[in-house]
Amino acid sequence: MSDLKRSLGEAVAAAFAAQGLPQDLGRVTASDRPDLADFQCNGALAAAKVARKPPREIAAAVVEALAGRPELQSVEIAGLGFINMRVSADTLSARAREIAADPRAGAEEIAEPRRVMIDYAGPNVAKPMHVGHLRASIIGESIKRLYRFRGDQVLGDAHFGDWGFQMGLLIVAACDDDPFIAALMERLAGAATISDEDERKVMAALAEHVSLADLDRLYPLAAGKAKTDTDYRDRARKATAELQGGRLGYRLLWKHFVNVSRVALEREFHALGVDFDLWKGESDADALIPGMVKDLEDKGLLVEDQGARIIRVAREGDKRELPPLLVVSSEGSAMYGTTDLATILDRRKSFDPNLILYCVDQRQADHFEQVFRAAYLAGYANAGELEHIGFGTMNGTDGKPFKTREGGVLKLHDLIEMTREKARERLREAGLGEALAPEEFEETAHKVAVAALKFADLSNFRGTSYVFDLDRFSSFEGKTGPYLLYQAVRIKSLLRKAAEAHLHPARIQVAEPAERDLALLLDAFDAALTEAYDKKAPNFVAEHAYKLAQAFSKFYAACPILKGVDEKVGGSRLALALATLKQLETALDLLGIETPERM
Ligand code: ARG
Repeated sequence: MSDLKRSLGEAVAAAFAAQGLPQDLGRVTASDRPDLADFQCNGALAAAKVARKPPREIAAAVVEALAGRPELQSVEIAGLGFINMRVSADTLSARAREIAADPRAGAEEIAEPRRVMIDYAGPNVAKPMHVGHLRASIIGESIKRLYRFRGDQVLGDAHFGDWGFQMGLLIVAACDDDPFIAALMERLAGAATISDEDERKVMAALAEHVSLADLDRLYPLAAGKAKTDTDYRDRARKATAELQGGRLGYRLLWKHFVNVSRVALEREFHALGVDFDLWKGESDADALIPGMVKDLEDKGLLVEDQGARIIRVAREGDKRELPPLLVVSSEGSAMYGTTDLATILDRRKSFDPNLILYCVDQRQADHFEQVFRAAYLAGYANAGELEHIGFGTMNGTDGKPFKTREGGVLKLHDLIEMTREKARERLREAGLGEALAPEEFEETAHKVAVAALKFADLSNFRGTSYVFDLDRFSSFEGKTGPYLLYQAVRIKSLLRKAAEAHLHPARIQVAEPAERDLALLLDAFDAALTEAYDKKAPNFVAEHAYKLAQAFSKFYAACPILKGVDEKVGGSRLALALATLKQLETALDLLGIETPERM
């Protein structure tokens, strides 16, 4: 049995078709007047223009065609020609029972699964993460989970920024900072190879000399210096080219930087509930670059331009001119776009995806347009297989991308800690300071913090920017992550009490308006997921979860379960609550949010 909206939609579409009208006018939506109807169809108004007939006349014919259907309690014309439908209590109850029994909580699987690669987060070695990386990881993780849940074969790749100019900068900075490193690089300068034993020694020495704290300190220094000091910049450029050319000492130093950075980042992402299937880097595409450059040359796509080599990607009819893609710089280095293009080839070889989604800040829209066009020109992908999933920024109250109070760029770790502190405060306000054992208190605070951050982000359509407002995000009331957790926790507590009272879930039979509303929302889950999936927009999942939580809250206030009702009714309601919890937790999991046991 598919969801009620869809099966009614098919019946209404058929009734339109029977009158010789376009089927798609028979679209059915949830009613915006729940007091009057469960579902509605507004198609008769548009059909009137096509058929040159009064809309009410068309609506009347549809109503007549639907009148005998057993799943409808009523079907009526309202106003100018709207069709209002109410489903019968038995139909709704049967659907709710079906969802209650379904491990997928009423969500369908897609008919034709694809291989989908999701490129998200994109942190860089040593460079501090900014809000763009935070949003990319939250949104990308959710899209990854959603696609996988719907049945696609999905791989999420961190696409670690471990190549290019910033690595040259770090190499120069580390040599200047520590004479030992400079001497070591000098010593290895002529070496073409190294024994495993010697490599181990070098790596151990590097571990002694360069820590994560060193990297955090050196990068901003070097980046700042390169802005004003052209000699320094040239040295960093040269180091970048030498690294890419395979200079042994630099390779080892680079490997150390990457290891140190990656371990720390993986830990932070994991704490945020963001886990990658692949942690590949820009550097992984490096071996493919020479062959790719040759191929681009053979295909006549590379053009010389002031010592550099580029691909022209502008098209006739473009609203504004798109600059060419820089493939090889005048120093002979591969650029950001070069690695992205070669990474497509790498992914082709390893996974052959039908679709690659790049979940990256909207500010990189031009970059991706350049890369995609170049890939299509070179035949590395077919039109439509590459898609940039852009998003707006998380802003501070000043309307600019969020920064820490000190004005520095955001550190993911600090942001999480700040949010966790707020969550602790809220939990104490709610009287949970004493009620929970210290360990559970901390774990709950962490879950509340993650829910606050992620839900605030995912409840907005990804294209919109939003303002970071920790007080609002962490409130237990309103449209917030913690509110959703709180409703889930109420159900869990109800289940515990029911177990103590020996009340068991029973056959669901909806009757009261609040029960009906809750059952209708349970039914709407699949449509919400479909929309989120098609639009690559988790906010539709977030919206559904919020409405479901609200409907539960109303149901819980209006419909007694443990006391004052007979066991059949109490058991039915308990089963409805259980189904709600399952669907709510499924939705939250798709947003990357976990629920605590108590709060
Ligand atoms: N590391 C990049 C940055 O910080 C983001 C990478 C996005 N993914 C990609 N395939 N280019 O801007």
